[in-house]
Amino acid sequence: MSIAYLNGQLLPIEEAKVPALDRGFLFGDGVYEVIPVYAGRLFRFKQHIARLENSLQGIRLPMEQTLQDWANICHQLIEQNSLNNASIYLQITRGAYPERNHDFPANPSPTIFAMITALPEVQAVPSDRDLQGISVITAEDIRWQRCDIKAITLLANCMLKQQALECGANDTILVRGGVAFEATSSNLFIVRDGVIITPPLSEHLLPGITRDFLLWLAEQHGILTEQRLIPEHELLQADEIWLTSSTKEIRPVTRLNDVTIGNGTAGPVWRQMYDHYQQLKVQLYRGEIDSNTEGEIAL
Ligand code: PDD
Repeated sequence: MSIAYLNGQLLPIEEAKVPALDRGFLFGDGVYEVIPVYAGRLFRFKQHIARLENSLQGIRLPMEQTLQDWANICHQLIEQNSLNNASIYLQITRGAYPERNHDFPANPSPTIFAMITALPEVQAVPSDRDLQGISVITAEDIRWQRCDIKAITLLANCMLKQQALECGANDTILVRGGVAFEATSSNLFIVRDGVIITPPLSEHLLPGITRDFLLWLAEQHGILTEQRLIPEHELLQADEIWLTSSTKEIRPVTRLNDVTIGNGTAGPVWRQMYDHYQQLKVQLYRGEIDSNTEGEIAL
């Protein structure tokens, strides 16, 4: 049974309970992070916590926890659950109060919850499933205007994902006014003539930590990148399409609205980036990357 963290306590996840009057439950009033753990070490932790702080600021919920406080919670979960490859889900809501009231409480007492889930081991060679890629549809983005905040209010994301499943696809690329921004739980990349292209940061997409990491990794290996808007019609002209997130890493898209992308399997630039990503994880496992010298990579 998995051990979770709730408001200062470690306990079996089935016993982690929050009051029905918690604003997370009543209003979806909270934010979250999903942080990968490779080789028992938090990956890009500083960046995840910086984004958490931006999200907290975005919903005007000040917290006094330091980077080290957040790290302690995560390390306890890693140790208690003896997991080396995992993702940590960390959620903060504005807490529970005696009445349901839309007004923000004057002195908030937030609820902090965290749990850990196993991730697959490093895969030096992509599986057939990876190479096959996924199938996506496009749909109008019905979410709010602050998609840069990692809010727990994910009903629109769930509806848009379900729409894909009901069409026999795996996910949905979200479009606003003819422009594609991201997918329901991942960022969007395309490749054209060897250049990796992703939309610039704005209130219409989450500033993905994997997105940022891939731009950095591509630069390290001399692969050209460009941050610009991607009109929906350009998706079909792309040589490759990828979706990226902390848990999916880089996922190739090989069908879009029932049209084949590229030659219908993961493309060559994806393969290059896949290899660079896995190589870096291997270096973490071997202890070749040190948290002090590679603060950019891991804490
Ligand atoms: N989702 N865009 C959206 C809407 C997301 O929900 C996510 C992450 C991303 C990618 O961000 P990152 O690279 O930092 O994981 C982009 C997480 C994994 C989730 O909801 O489970």
